[in-house]
Amino acid sequence: MDNRTAGRNTQPEQTEGTTMKIGIIGAGNIGGNLTRRLTALGHDVSVANSRGPETLTALAQETGATAVTAAEAARGAEIVVVTVPLKNVPDLPDGLLDGAAEGFTVIDTGNYYPRERDGRIDAIEDDGLTESRWTERRIGHPVIKAFNGTYAQDILDRPRPAGDPERLALPVAGDDAAAKEKVRLLIDELGFDTVDAGGIDDSWRQQPDTPVYGLREGVDAVTKALSEASPERPEGFRG
Ligand SMILES: NC(=O)c1ccc[n+]([C@@H]2O[C@H](COP(=O)([O-])OP(=O)(O)OC[C@H]3O[C@@H](n4cnc5c(N)ncnc54)[C@H](OP(=O)(O)O)[C@@H]3O)[C@@H](O)[C@H]2O)c1
Repeated sequence: MDNRTAGRNTQPEQTEGTTMKIGIIGAGNIGGNLTRRLTALGHDVSVANSRGPETLTALAQETGATAVTAAEAARGAEIVVVTVPLKNVPDLPDGLLDGAAEGFTVIDTGNYYPRERDGRIDAIEDDGLTESRWTERRIGHPVIKAFNGTYAQDILDRPRPAGDPERLALPVAGDDAAAKEKVRLLIDELGFDTVDAGGIDDSWRQQPDTPVYGLREGVDAVTKALSEASPERPEGFRG
């Protein structure tokens, strides 16, 4: 799912929703493209990587986002997106979410790739934690799992207006109904339908190698794919 993208139209689009302050931690394939789209929609985006804001000047210039340190990214944010490789979640600074807006929501886009990238995480494999439950324990705040099975390039290339027969649907899991609704509205604004995939303990249904992972279909097919998932961790995703 690696599709880093070159520049694109950065003129603001018509925004129907309210402008929000959004912090994005991770500026790679997913974080970069969410920065591009969310700024284009008029949101006030701060974006961070591990190497520091001076390495993000090109993305900041392209999009109008503010490049910041990871420790600063959540400040004042109503939505914080954590989009770093799972192996790097423990490296995130203490106090990562300090100073976020009251009632803020965290989106987790992460996936566990033990063999290719992340190494073995015992709490996921031995204790049976879902990947997002593990992440929320590390960062100390509930998360909403979204975008984890979405090709990064699709965030730029496949938005469609509501009602378009080609509109893709993304599964969204989370325990807090209000936070999940906020994320579903944001994804709608980004040009995608959503399907409620249950709570974080159910989010194995959308982890790597499940039927819905990488599925480019609408609401009905995504709903069906979620129902066909197996809770057993696939062999290729064991460390
Ligand atoms: N690629 C896809 O299409 C895709 C799709 C869905 C979900 N995902 C999942 O989303 C997550 C991110 O994927 P990606 O492909 O966007 O990753 P990526 O392209 O490798 O980018 C990772 C980003 O995280 C940053 N980072 C790493 N450690 C950090 C730290 N301690 N503090 C702040 N930033 C840190 C990196 O900064 P530096 O470059 O400065 O180190 C980089 O900007 C992964 O869990 C992945 O499995 C990916």
